[in-house]
Amino acid sequence: MGTINYDFIEEFIRQFIPERDALLLEIERSAKEKGIPIVEPEVGQLIYLLARIKKCKAILEIGTAIGYSTIILAGGLEPGGRLITIEKDKEMADEAEKNFQRLGLSNVILLKGDALEILKNMVSTGNYQFDFIFLDAAKGQYVQFLPLCYRLLNTGGLLVADNVLYKGMVANRDLLKRRKITIVKRLKKYLNQVTSHPNLETSILPIGDGVSISLKV
Ligand SMILES: C[S@@+](CC[C@H](N)C(=O)[O-])C[C@H]1O[C@@H](n2cnc3c(N)ncnc32)[C@H](O)[C@@H]1O
Repeated sequence: MGTINYDFIEEFIRQFIPERDALLLEIERSAKEKGIPIVEPEVGQLIYLLARIKKCKAILEIGTAIGYSTIILAGGLEPGGRLITIEKDKEMADEAEKNFQRLGLSNVILLKGDALEILKNMVSTGNYQFDFIFLDAAKGQYVQFLPLCYRLLNTGGLLVADNVLYKGMVANRDLLKRRKITIVKRLKKYLNQVTSHPNLETSILPIGDGVSISLKV
């Protein structure tokens, strides 16, 4: 078994994912070596496709790490669109910046700092609206990010959150590790909130580590 799916299913699906750019493959290898969590390739393909379907002009990503999903999402932007990504870890942010430079990505803006503070500032200025928000930072903070993301999302926009099933622990108590109890409780709360929100319509998909897709209506 992978995180939540059978290995043979993941391997089978992955053979159909379009060939990735050499730098993306290098980042995948480097992330694996250094133990940096990045989206699974099939989740990368999903968010890329969602960005294309939404014809995104403005994407916000919360949790850059070394820029793997950022590069994928930026590839889904409409011409003239831009992507803002937020990372609080300086080393990760520096490496992401190098990767963006290597690809010559001029439509990506990396903000270094704590996403909660940055999102609060974005909301208070009233100058930011996005048609796609990808939430992939501290899992225990998703419930705090939610009202801010909601404010920053256009009507008709998508809020996509990664790791919402958290190695299956969110769905099955038998898998739950004691030290993960709080994160799992908070992820369940996030899923309850997005699924019961009067202006969000949500689907939860068991791919990668679990992905929720919420449409602002
Ligand atoms: C799972 S990794 C992101 C992976 C990346 N989205 C990808 O797939 O390539 C989560 C990242 O979020 C960052 N992070 C966690 N909490 C954060 C916060 N409150 N503000 C900004 N970054 C945060 C971590 O430092 C980490 O690099």
